[in-house]
Amino acid sequence: MHAHMYCNTKDTRQKTGGKLTSIEKYELNKNNSIPLYYQLEQMIKDMIDNEQLLPGQRAPSERELAETLGISRMTVRAAMSNLVADGYLFSVSGKGTFVASPKMHQNLLELNSFTEDMRKRGLKPGARLLEMDVSSEASSKVYWVLGLAEQEELIRIYRLRTADGEPMCLETSYLPRNLFPWLFEEDLESGSLYQALESRGIELARAEEQLEATVVRETESRLLTVPVGYPALLIERTTYTRGDKPIEYVKSLYRGDRYQFSVTLFSRKTKKSNRL
Ligand code: GLP
Repeated sequence: MHAHMYCNTKDTRQKTGGKLTSIEKYELNKNNSIPLYYQLEQMIKDMIDNEQLLPGQRAPSERELAETLGISRMTVRAAMSNLVADGYLFSVSGKGTFVASPKMHQNLLELNSFTEDMRKRGLKPGARLLEMDVSSEASSKVYWVLGLAEQEELIRIYRLRTADGEPMCLETSYLPRNLFPWLFEEDLESGSLYQALESRGIELARAEEQLEATVVRETESRLLTVPVGYPALLIERTTYTRGDKPIEYVKSLYRGDRYQFSVTLFSRKTKKSNRL
């Protein structure tokens, strides 16, 4: 709660469904240096955190917010468009602005498959197999990472991954063909690649990942159902077996509005002083 910026004047616990009554409980602070659009952004984020605005619910309209809070519609528009860009709200043309589902929180310390990850959240994992072939056109990096000579064959699997039917990420995986010729018989739409590997006795032990920010391009935008230029996270993963053999190289493009990654950092200092 950002009490220094705006105040929540009455008890807001009761779920008022985003109606005017719940906004009336807030007041923006017009006398401090924090821009009003920013205060409004924080106020709406808090309403989402406090479950006064629930996922899928219509957000208060521009007019309601402007009138109730006594601010200009331009200020409201600035706040709302930032909240849309940050993935807190989404707009449906002709219908209004709605509260988005919370971002998927992924811990970078666990080697999980997409299927496991979604199941843990109580969501139904899914995939659309867009392409699956024997590739000879992968970049030299793929061969190098997998420790293969460039004339060796790779299986390329291009999937759109979904959670409860909603597109989440696009994934291109490369695996050495000679090790997994049976992969073509697997159902990689309703089944899991990692489960298929594990059921054949391949134990996945660790993965190296690199994350970078990017934007969604045209074909990807159609598949991920977000506009061109939308923020996204590109993750490259190399997965190793228990015997430390690299067997999978994957490039995943995650929707930036739906994902949040977290990692625990430990101090390098080991001094045992002033323990709390
Ligand atoms: C995650 C990883 C991919 C991996 C996939 C396997 O999405 N980023 O590198 O290929 O999981 O998922 P599944 O076993 O559900 O097919």
